Amino acid sequence: MNGGMNPRDRYYAEMKAAEDRRREAQRRAEIERERRAREEERRRREAERQRAIQRERMRRKKQRRIFLRRFLVFLFFSAIILAIVFAVTVISFRMKPNLGTDTSEYKIVYGEDDDSVTERVSSAKFERDGVRYVNYTSLSSYLSMSVMAKDGVYSFIIPESGETVTFTNNSADADVNGSSVRLDGASLYENGDVWTPLSFVTRYMTGVKVTTDDEKHTVTFVVDGKVGFTNKKVETLPHYGETEGDDTTDAGTDTPPEDEIPAVEFKSDLSAYKQYMNPTGEERDAYLILVNTKHTIGEDYAPTDLVDIKNTRTDRGARQMREVAEKALEAMFIELFANGYDGNGPSGYPVSVMSAYRSYKEQVSLFNSYVDREMRDDPSLSRAQAEKITSTYSAPPGTSEHQTGLCVDMHNMPSAQKAFADQPAYEWLRDNSWKFGFILRFPEDKQDITGITFEPWHYRYVGRYHAYKIWSSGMCLEEYVEAMENNGAAG
Ligand code: DAL
Ligand code: ZN
Repeated sequence: MNGGMNPRDRYYAEMKAAEDRRREAQRRAEIERERRAREEERRRREAERQRAIQRERMRRKKQRRIFLRRFLVFLFFSAIILAIVFAVTVISFRMKPNLGTDTSEYKIVYGEDDDSVTERVSSAKFERDGVRYVNYTSLSSYLSMSVMAKDGVYSFIIPESGETVTFTNNSADADVNGSSVRLDGASLYENGDVWTPLSFVTRYMTGVKVTTDDEKHTVTFVVDGKVGFTNKKVETLPHYGETEGDDTTDAGTDTPPEDEIPAVEFKSDLSAYKQYMNPTGEERDAYLILVNTKHTIGEDYAPTDLVDIKNTRTDRGARQMREVAEKALEAMFIELFANGYDGNGPSGYPVSVMSAYRSYKEQVSLFNSYVDREMRDDPSLSRAQAEKITSTYSAPPGTSEHQTGLCVDMHNMPSAQKAFADQPAYEWLRDNSWKFGFILRFPEDKQDITGITFEPWHYRYVGRYHAYKIWSSGMCLEEYVEAMENNGAAG
């Protein structure tokens, strides 16, 4: 066909064919480029996917490692906690080897041998919150006491003497012969019986012997004397020389002459203070009130003649005591300073009064603050245990003579501490305070009688006559009062 074309047409035809070939080649190149780009994209995605898979693998691996680590830590702490729980259980079991469980029983025996009566109580009733209880209704029946009950208040009366204890349901306060005492736990009325802390019997009853055998889970009560209460309310003692039905003629009870005590001399002129330092006549015996755990003071008692104390430490608020004692104290300070004991002690203050009259309420909060401190210092203590420790240095409310307004805590230390006994001023006070009518109330060698540890700072006003007798005899107030009651005469 081309054979018929003229050269021009042929030229154009060849040009067109060449153009078509060029375009075809271009199109193919285009297609190839696109294919390569797609291939590239596919590879890129594949690489991305591989990287993601790798990342996920790493993440899982890391998670597994964290989990494993946490699990090991958990196992470790669980093991420690288990070990502690185990140790505590073993220790408490060892400390209370025989208390039994809630389901075990205690055998309560009233009386001895053939006459005895036995009662069984569950351990849960016997010991509640660490306080041991007695069924007082059963005990009172064994002791032939009569009972009066009204509105949750239960009085048990000893018929021969009329001595009475009154418990109130759900209250730890009890009334013994007209004065209140605080029990280790609340009294409880249950199914017709009154339950009260066992320590009430050991602490406030006489003539009843209590034996506890923890091995055999047995408590035995046996009458071994005249049944009564230790708590005989004494707010003032009988006057010296007073006898029942005869107040004049018995020579043994006559008031000894005042010259039984030595004459005293002072550096200072204390003539204005004589009547306070040395009360005479009926006044002489008016300040011998004995207050301790066996001779409690009523919650409502407050002296009516309190006055501010002159020599209170200057960083303290006003302290008060009964007027006669305060005046005698003033004299003692004048003479103490006149003897050269006027310098500042380790506190930066001279000897001065830190505490004196304290109301029942103040004693409650002071005592409780010490109990709390004991429990903080040793968290294993029960409240009853902490109270027992505290009561060796702080009198439980109702048993503190601070409530009489007749005593002071005085020293020159930063706080009341036994180191005051090393101060020369203490020695002077110990040997001379009787001249002003004061005694060292809690001496070091009388702790077993007073129940209170040595308090070199606590001085008690009794008046010069009795102070001299007490000081010179070496007795403490408890012994002196008992001697007076036994003899009808002091010294
Ligand atoms: N520190 C004494 C004993 C009291 O509290 O009365
Ligand atoms: Zn005191």
